[in-house]
Amino acid sequence: MLVTKCFAILSGEEPALARAEFESILHLANFEAELTWNQNLVVFNTGKHNLAFLLFRAAMIKEAGYIIAESSALNEDIEWIPEKKLASSIQPTETFCVRTQSLVSKGMNEYRQQITNLLGTKIKHLTKAKIDAKRPNAKILVLLTSNGVKVCRSYKSDSRKKLMNKNSAKKPFFHPSMMNAQLARVMCNLAGVMSGKIAYDPFSGSGGILLELAALGAKTIGMDLNWRQLMGSKLNLIHQKHTLFSLIQGDARVPPIAQHFCDSIVTDPPYGRASSTRGSEATNLVTEFLAAIPKILKPNGMLCIAGSNKMRIPEIANDLGFKCAYHIPIRVHSGLIRDIVTIRV
Ligand SMILES: C[S@@+](CC[C@H](N)C(=O)[O-])C[C@H]1O[C@@H](n2cnc3c(N)ncnc32)[C@H](O)[C@@H]1O
Repeated sequence: MLVTKCFAILSGEEPALARAEFESILHLANFEAELTWNQNLVVFNTGKHNLAFLLFRAAMIKEAGYIIAESSALNEDIEWIPEKKLASSIQPTETFCVRTQSLVSKGMNEYRQQITNLLGTKIKHLTKAKIDAKRPNAKILVLLTSNGVKVCRSYKSDSRKKLMNKNSAKKPFFHPSMMNAQLARVMCNLAGVMSGKIAYDPFSGSGGILLELAALGAKTIGMDLNWRQLMGSKLNLIHQKHTLFSLIQGDARVPPIAQHFCDSIVTDPPYGRASSTRGSEATNLVTEFLAAIPKILKPNGMLCIAGSNKMRIPEIANDLGFKCAYHIPIRVHSGLIRDIVTIRV
C-alpha cells in the first residue's frame, strides 16, 4: 500500500468522543497508525483509500485529506512546495479555493493573506483551473501550527451533512427517546459495526440506532418490549429503504438470540425518563442485560452502550468482570450526563 501523510480535522464539540471514533475507524480499517494530535487536528500516515473510508464512516470528522508539503518555518515565499505535487492535486477541469486556518492563537493575519494569494495564483498558473471562492470542487487548506505550515488537499465530510439532514428529515414514526443520527453513527463506529456482519440493538425503540446499523450495511436486529415502538421502527427502516433487518418483541435480559450470534451490539437502555423501563429499575435492567452479552456476542465482539451517568454503567460492567475499552461522559444538558461505554468480550 502506498502510504501518504494525511490529516483530519475533527469536530471540537466532544473532543474525547471524536478522538475515540477516529481511532476506532482506523482500527476497523486494520490500520494501526501513529497519530500526532494538535487540538482537533490529527496527522497520521495511511493509504489514500483509508481516507475515503474515514470520511464515509465518521460522524465527527469535519474534513480530511493529504499533506502536499510542509515546512517548519513560515517562509515568505512558496518555493519550498514541490510544483509537481501541487499541480497534481487539482485537475484542470476543477474549480478550487485556498483557505488558511491557524491553530496558533494570535497574529498571522498578514502571513495568512500572503500565502493564500501566492498559492491561488501559483495553482491557477500550474493547472489552468479556475478559482471559485463560493462553491469550489477542490480545496487547498493551509494549516498554520506551532510546528510550522502544512499545505494540504482537503476533502469535506459528506457524511456529517447527510447525518444532520437525516435528523431533520420527517420520519413516519417519532418518539422523544429516539437516538439522533450523529450519536448513533459514532456509537456504531465505536462498536466496529461492519457491512455484512450482524449488529443488534436490544432496546431498539423507534429505531435511531437501527437506521445507522442498516445504513452501514449491517444485518440489523432490533428488539424491544414495546410493540408500538417496534412497528414505528419498522416504518422508519422501510421509509429509508432498508431491507436487511429483523425485529423481535422481547426482553433484552433474556434475549431469544442464538449463542455467539452477533458481531456488535449498539444500544441505549431506557434512562427511566421519557422512555419506559416497564417497571424495572434502570440499573437492575442494565446489570441483567450486561450479564447476558457474553452469550450473544461472538468472541472478540464489541458492545457500545449509552446511558445516564446515574445508571453507573462502567461500575456495573467492572463488577461483572468486563473491561471498558472507552468510557466517555458527554454533557447533554445541566441535568443529564450521558456515559458512552464500550466493552469487548
Ligand atoms: C432509550 S429507548 C431506545 C432508543 C433506541 N435505541 C433508538 O436508537 O432510538 C429505550 C427502549 O427500551 C425499551 N425497553 C424497556 N425495557 C426493555 C426490556 N427489558 N427489553 C427490551 N426493551 C426494553 C423501551 O420500550 C424503549 O423503547
